[in-house]
Amino acid sequence: MFILPKLPFAYAALEPALSADTLHTHHDKHHRAYVEKTNELAAKAGVDGRALEEVVREAQRKGDLKLFHNAAQAWNHAFFWESMTPKASAPSEALKSAIAKAFGSFDAFREAFVTEGFDHFGSGWVWLVTGSEGLKVISTHDADDTLIRDGLFPLLVCDLWEHAYYLDYKNDRKEFLKRWLGEVANWAFAERQLAAADGKGDGFRYPAGVPGEDAANDRGEVHSDRPGQPPH
Ligand code: FE2
Repeated sequence: MFILPKLPFAYAALEPALSADTLHTHHDKHHRAYVEKTNELAAKAGVDGRALEEVVREAQRKGDLKLFHNAAQAWNHAFFWESMTPKASAPSEALKSAIAKAFGSFDAFREAFVTEGFDHFGSGWVWLVTGSEGLKVISTHDADDTLIRDGLFPLLVCDLWEHAYYLDYKNDRKEFLKRWLGEVANWAFAERQLAAADGKGDGFRYPAGVPGEDAANDRGEVHSDRPGQPPH
């Protein structure tokens, strides 16, 4: 059984860039639905004891698209929550220089990320990844992700599905992307991922837990590293 991971911050902690309403709907409804469907389909396929990363890859290899779509969406959302933080966050000098090497400057990276996300047709994800050619910005359609792309290791992801921004930004995906990158992107997480890609430390893996424990979020439990954040 896969759990619905708790948000790593309080629902209102990303305001004003992202509202508590958006986070409640996105996490408690959308992410939960993907996790529940994955559990149902993984049990039917006899792969429910495996790591989610393996389930995603095997479902894609076997052409089990229903399981692939739901399992990949469960994973992508967990990675997305970690890609955001209410703490002020900026890339370290080392990461900044890797970005400058790949994109020319940090501003050029920002432009590349926002443009890739804005130009992406329909639903999907925009990623900052690292690979043999250094850092790159890519987008993937629907549930597609970096788990099924050999040689690419994700540092950050932003959700381009309308449910990620429509309550707060209506159809203005570009403004959402600019604010996301400028206000809530978690550079400390990107840094850890980059180190893991170099063999230093562990990269993100879908959290394991006891089924049923994920209900904590529904009881209004607060997971915030911002002091004084009231429960929502
Ligand atoms: Fe989403």
